[in-house]
Amino acid sequence: MASEGRSGVSRFHPVVRADEIPPGTGKTVLVDGRKVALFNVGGRFHAIDDRCPHAGGSLGEGILDGCVVTCPYHFWQFDVRRGCAPEFPEATVVRYEVRLENGLVSVSDSPVADGVVKPGAAPGGKASPPR
Ligand code: FES
Repeated sequence: MASEGRSGVSRFHPVVRADEIPPGTGKTVLVDGRKVALFNVGGRFHAIDDRCPHAGGSLGEGILDGCVVTCPYHFWQFDVRRGCAPEFPEATVVRYEVRLENGLVSVSDSPVADGVVKPGAAPGGKASPPR
């Protein structure tokens, strides 16, 4: 299955059965050879780059609290729905589109075309003005 991404056509790769990532948890998966952190937030799946932009910690091994994952290395936090740090919006990670079909979670091999969604904005919506 393919769709348009940042660099043209994206392909979705089945990576895990949905029941392997219960709500409130996450894990690192491989998508076309790239490490991606995949999370289940209340039954909705979200995917971001696994590599923490601070010093490379695995975000898929972090602790998920609501929609925020805490990096296991030095505790930076990221909103897994938006790919940004709630307390430090300049720290970002790329997001990937996720599909759930027949109990199987598939992740795009290309980053989401609209990039990072700033805090206060609904995913896919307009960012709110800076506070
Ligand atoms: S590597 Fe993630 S907070 Fe330092």
